[in-house]
Amino acid sequence: MLTKQRMEYRRASTGIVYLIGAGPGDPDLITVRGQNCLRQADVVVYDRLVNEALLAEAPPGAERLFAGKMPGYHSLSQQAINRILIERAGAGQVVVRLKGGDPFVFGRGGEEAAACAAAGVRWEVVPGVTSAVAVPTAAGIPVTHRHISGAFAVVTAHRANGQDAPNWAALAQIDTLVVLMGVKRLPHVVARLIEEGRAPETPVAIIERGTQADERVTIGTLADIEQRASTVGVRSPATIVIGEVVRLREQLLGLTIQPGVRLGICDALLTPA
Ligand SMILES: C[S@@+](CC[C@H](N)C(=O)[O-])C[C@H]1O[C@@H](n2cnc3c(N)ncnc32)[C@H](O)[C@@H]1O
Repeated sequence: MLTKQRMEYRRASTGIVYLIGAGPGDPDLITVRGQNCLRQADVVVYDRLVNEALLAEAPPGAERLFAGKMPGYHSLSQQAINRILIERAGAGQVVVRLKGGDPFVFGRGGEEAAACAAAGVRWEVVPGVTSAVAVPTAAGIPVTHRHISGAFAVVTAHRANGQDAPNWAALAQIDTLVVLMGVKRLPHVVARLIEEGRAPETPVAIIERGTQADERVTIGTLADIEQRASTVGVRSPATIVIGEVVRLREQLLGLTIQPGVRLGICDALLTPA
């Protein structure tokens, strides 16, 4: 049965929450549909990893609310974010909830959709280009490759302990692992994979600020990546790729890659070594 409040929200039929994936960082990597929805916004509630250049796509009069979460610090609680979405859409506004990558990949988009549904608010998800695949791709690392990698898994290192801890024994068997939110937990990830039988020589790439002008790629192996990451001062946001596919980067770009040098894939294809 609908509560009085839910019935009121339903009546304000112009109100809607669009949960939009903003892509991995380069503003060109939002989808056409995402951009079209953004252009209709009355209010945009955006996260830390969203490229702020995208906010210019919203109408000039639209309200822009930063809901970004810094590691270890939440500027708005999840409950407060849910409340804003529900109240604004309930009042008839077009609410854009702009989230990094894809809203349903480690983005709590599912929780926000569930909150809207429970409140009787109309909502729609616009899929985004997830960093889990796009960041390796843009850095020249295919997550699958015939004869080298027939499977990949995406895991967060954030919940490294306790009940939610990833099954490292199972993950160690998968050809390519993509680790998100893994910078702080890198020593743990490396230790668990080696414990579970992954060869210490397995190649690893850490891609910081992928698809952006200041992208940096650090290459190593399970045996030495911690030391390399600490030498160059790797910081979040970063995507970690573990597996033989990492070796393809040099081959695909056709160049010997110096640490810290960013090479656009297109540039490399136009000017092969
Ligand atoms: C909370 S998760 C959200 C993932 C997002 N929903 C997606 O689909 O890409 C944030 C993590 O994604 C990864 N990430 C997001 N943007 C990135 C970027 N531009 N470069 C490297 N990693 C990125 C990092 O591991 C970061 O800690």
